[in-house]
Amino acid sequence: MMSLLVISLPLLPVVVMMTIRFRSSLLALCCRVCAGVLKLSHRKVCVSSTHAYVFSNCTHGQAQSVLLTFDLYSTTHATLSIGPQKGELLDEIVKREAPLMVLELGMHCGYASIRILRLLPPSGKLLAVELDPQTADRGEEIILVAGFKNPQFQVLTCSSAEAISSLSSHLGDSRLDLVLMDHDPEQYLPDLLALHRGKLLSAFCVVLINRALTSGAKDLLEYVTARPLSYSIGRQLDGMMELHCHMAVHSEGS
Ligand SMILES: C[S@@+](CC[C@H](N)C(=O)[O-])C[C@H]1O[C@@H](n2cnc3c(N)ncnc32)[C@H](O)[C@@H]1O
Ligand SMILES: *[C@@H]1O[C@H](CO)[C@@H](O)[C@H](O)[C@H]1NC(C)=O
Repeated sequence: MMSLLVISLPLLPVVVMMTIRFRSSLLALCCRVCAGVLKLSHRKVCVSSTHAYVFSNCTHGQAQSVLLTFDLYSTTHATLSIGPQKGELLDEIVKREAPLMVLELGMHCGYASIRILRLLPPSGKLLAVELDPQTADRGEEIILVAGFKNPQFQVLTCSSAEAISSLSSHLGDSRLDLVLMDHDPEQYLPDLLALHRGKLLSAFCVVLINRALTSGAKDLLEYVTARPLSYSIGRQLDGMMELHCHMAVHSEGS
């Protein structure tokens, strides 16, 4: 112990100097680490408390009751779900499109998934992607509680990019008629391009983008507004934006 102290004593001025020299970057690093830990635990808390509330307060087997319980929870707690107003716009689009194959990127606790599932045509199917394994488990349980079963829906626990690269094996001969992007806005454009490259979208696919006006989604907005022959913007509500893809025109034009 003593010898350790003797050896390290000459190093002390160096350590002090370094600390002073780099104090602002050190401070910034500490802040980032703390913020990251807080954000992570907040997300976990939020997911498990949403799950517990919905699970114990809804009528099992009734999708409408599950949705109402989510809405009740969100009147007193912050949640990441799209919520009832945007949920109604989503409902209208699902009813109008009657999609046979839907992809949801960013499933979270399954709120939007349940809204979609309850309105799908009998042979319709939902693939829901969620990056966080704990969230994916909780969300899947809530979807089962709402009364939906596999293979009507399938949860893919991975990043959107990984899901898209393995999507053709899940789709078989079909293509996506509706995509809900509600994961990471920075991923919206790379994911849209990957969906095109993989020829995974049906000819008149609708892509519904949540948080389309955030800075992360800027690249996507610029890309689609610069290509009016391939994309047209449909309905919008509170940052949620409906995008019509005209694939036939797109492939002729490019
Ligand atoms: C805003 S929440 C989704 C809310 C959900 N659509 C609803 O209405 O209930 C975003 C979710 O996307 C997930 N996520 C973030 N980045 C992702 C990525 N790159 N791939 C897949 N999921 C991601 C997060 O873990 C989070 O659960
Ligand atoms: C169920 O709802 C009641 C009334 O809103 C609430 O006090 C309770 O905490 C909820 N249960 C769970 C497990 O969150």
